[in-house]
Amino acid sequence: MAACRTCVATLAAVLAMAMLASAEPSTARPLVISHRGYPCKYPEETIRGYEEAIAAGVDYIEMDVVSTKDGKLITRHDVLLDESTNIKDVDEFKNRTATKLVNGKNITGYFAIDFTLEEIKSLKTRQRLAFRDHSVDGKFMVPTLKEVLQLVKAARRNGTKVGAYTETKHPQFHIDNKRPLEEPLVAELRDLQLLADPGAIYLQSFDPASIKKLQELLGDKNRLPATWLIGCEEPIPTLAELEEFKEYGTAIGPDKLLLFNVNAADECGRSANSSCGALEPTQECIGRLEPPPEAAATSTLLTAAHDTGLEVHAYTFRNEGKFMALDFMSDPYVELNFYANRSRGVSWVDGVFIDCPATSVPWRDGGSWDPSRDSDENGARDCNYGGVVFAMIFLSIVSMAFSLLYVRERRRGRAGGAFSRLSGVEMDQRAQL
Ligand SMILES: *[C@@H]1O[C@H](CO)[C@@H](O)[C@H](O)[C@H]1NC(C)=O
Ligand SMILES: *[C@@H]1O[C@H](CO)[C@@H](O)[C@H](O)[C@H]1NC(C)=O
Ligand SMILES: *[C@@H]1O[C@H](CO)[C@@H](O)[C@H](O)[C@H]1NC(C)=O
Ligand SMILES: *[C@@H]1O[C@H](CO)[C@@H](O)[C@H](O)[C@H]1NC(C)=O
Ligand SMILES: *[C@@H]1O[C@H](CO)[C@@H](O)[C@H](O)[C@H]1NC(C)=O
Repeated sequence: MAACRTCVATLAAVLAMAMLASAEPSTARPLVISHRGYPCKYPEETIRGYEEAIAAGVDYIEMDVVSTKDGKLITRHDVLLDESTNIKDVDEFKNRTATKLVNGKNITGYFAIDFTLEEIKSLKTRQRLAFRDHSVDGKFMVPTLKEVLQLVKAARRNGTKVGAYTETKHPQFHIDNKRPLEEPLVAELRDLQLLADPGAIYLQSFDPASIKKLQELLGDKNRLPATWLIGCEEPIPTLAELEEFKEYGTAIGPDKLLLFNVNAADECGRSANSSCGALEPTQECIGRLEPPPEAAATSTLLTAAHDTGLEVHAYTFRNEGKFMALDFMSDPYVELNFYANRSRGVSWVDGVFIDCPATSVPWRDGGSWDPSRDSDENGARDCNYGGVVFAMIFLSIVSMAFSLLYVRERRRGRAGGAFSRLSGVEMDQRAQL
């Protein structure tokens, strides 16, 4: 009997999940911002990744900008080249590590700012996350910002509505090292005539001073939409700070875990005080929403941003189950639907930074979830779709069994008896399949 109840509960959960995932799309259509290219499949911030993301139909490709020794702008997420390139394996560069102060911390490694563009162009990129596909490591170069912007420009000329979502990375570090980012970035946008093309560029930075500086350099006529990124370690901005930012910006970009509280203390073995759920290297999960999704109310930060007239573009949505709250059952659509709140007709988040375009673009367009479509996105391989696949197989087997029974019963001239005759014992056996 207990097993039967489990089986009924499973069925109910499967149906509830299916309803959640296929919730009616509304007019709200959050922007899909392809985080660092196409990191589900390709090393981050490579031309190949950006091309594939554009082809997948994202609204923006996202890139981080750092400076080389000779003041050229390249796209790298980190000021160090250690994790995203093969630099550690290059003998010629063995003695070129350094220790520098970045955001209040001394860090040691191969700083992009200590290498010329020519030297950086001799490197090859690699997938940063260990659990993703490494089969194309060593195949692609580090692009310049200009090369990536040219890609966007060419796509737009072809009628593809895609923009560049461009982040100044550690602006103060670059100022301290006499290679400020803002002037050369604005010069490049001007040279490529991207300023006169509305929708081509969105600016972003964790440092609002950098955005202010960029807008000053651009001048009132050429101001661009811009996002203030907010990390887990940072204080939540006050209403006054948001209002001040509104003078020169258009959105905030919070870590998604800042929007709704995640408690990981028990199930994920983190201390309750770890900063808003950020994954530690040894961790396999980030915890559960508190309160749970069905009881969640609009968060204070969301309300404050929207009341101020700022959009909310949250990061980062990935396919791997370990990067989402346990409540979402490793299903990227359930997670995205929660943050977008679309079924209720108004959007909570106005944009999402995502790692897996083939998953997120169909979601944005109101498609239904098809795990097989994304099987080539690495995240999907690692991701725990087991529960859903099991549920689908289980449902098919149950319906097949029903039809078989029905046909058999009909042959015996006792149509209609099959369903009432399906005993708890038979249900139990099916539940174990
Ligand atoms: C690294 O080694 C090369 C050749 O051995 C030398 O010319 C260069 O000055 C060294 N660089 C540093 C930063 O020590
Ligand atoms: C960073 O290293 C420098 C040089 O060793 C030292 O003077 C400074 O105090 C260090 N700063 C921090 C924040 O550790
Ligand atoms: C532009 O469109 C042409 C014709 O469809 C295609 O061959 C080309 O690859 C496209 N270029 C870009 C950058 O999208
Ligand atoms: C968490 O932080 C609070 C306030 O700083 C402190 O009182 C509490 O002991 C901390 N809890 C843990 C588990 O570290
Ligand atoms: C999101 O959903 C909740 C109910 O879960 C509702 O109270 C809230 O008003 C919704 N927010 C928006 C912006 O629609």
